[in-house]
Amino acid sequence: MDDGEKLFARKYYNRWAESYETGIRLRFWFWRLLRKTWRRILLEDGALVYDMGCGTGNLLLHIHEEYPKAVLYGTDVSEGMLEKARDKFRSIDDMTVSLKIADMNDLFPWDDGMFDYAVSTFCFHYAKDPVKTLKEMFRILKPGGTLYLADLCYLPGINNLVDKVYPRVLEWEGHIEFLGRSRLRRAMEEAGFVKTIQSRISLFAVFSSAVRA
Ligand SMILES: C[S@@+](CC[C@H](N)C(=O)[O-])C[C@H]1O[C@@H](n2cnc3c(N)ncnc32)[C@H](O)[C@@H]1O
Repeated sequence: MDDGEKLFARKYYNRWAESYETGIRLRFWFWRLLRKTWRRILLEDGALVYDMGCGTGNLLLHIHEEYPKAVLYGTDVSEGMLEKARDKFRSIDDMTVSLKIADMNDLFPWDDGMFDYAVSTFCFHYAKDPVKTLKEMFRILKPGGTLYLADLCYLPGINNLVDKVYPRVLEWEGHIEFLGRSRLRRAMEEAGFVKTIQSRISLFAVFSSAVRA
């Protein structure tokens, strides 16, 4: 993204952060998808876990509840989203999470091979160059580390249509691309991931896992 686009996207997501938790989209649609996704994210306690596009921190909080010893990191392009996450985590005594502003289209602010798990839910469609973003996921994982990625992905045919219409209707959300299941799988493999497993979790969403070779 150029600087103008970045500023625009940040402003948009900062505004969305105000209503993200209470909005219709999350309450009546996303929560069901999130819960279905969370059930599939299996970790080892004590692991280092990175959530890309963590938003208001719901997944990180869930991971903390299930795996209290996990060491948690998150990034998002929006300060507003991260501020909401910080507010949420502040009231939980034993929870420390390292949160940073970062754009998924840039290099990630983490060292090579730092994490056991990289997770991301419902934001990968904002990646401008999906293989580049996946290569960053690959780079920051330890060899043998696992990627869990859930994103909007409509049924074949519908997905292509949505991919054409959605970015025009919601052009203020910035770049959007719905890859489709097999293109996502190919992108993951091109980035170096192996053992890709995909499952459809609803008419709108696909969950993928893969291992860093
Ligand atoms: C639908 S929300 C999902 C948030 C969270 N992962 C969840 O499952 O609740 C999409 C998130 O992607 C973030 N986002 C959008 N574009 C981004 C980018 N280029 N880099 C990093 N985060 C981005 C937004 O700020 C927002 O928090």
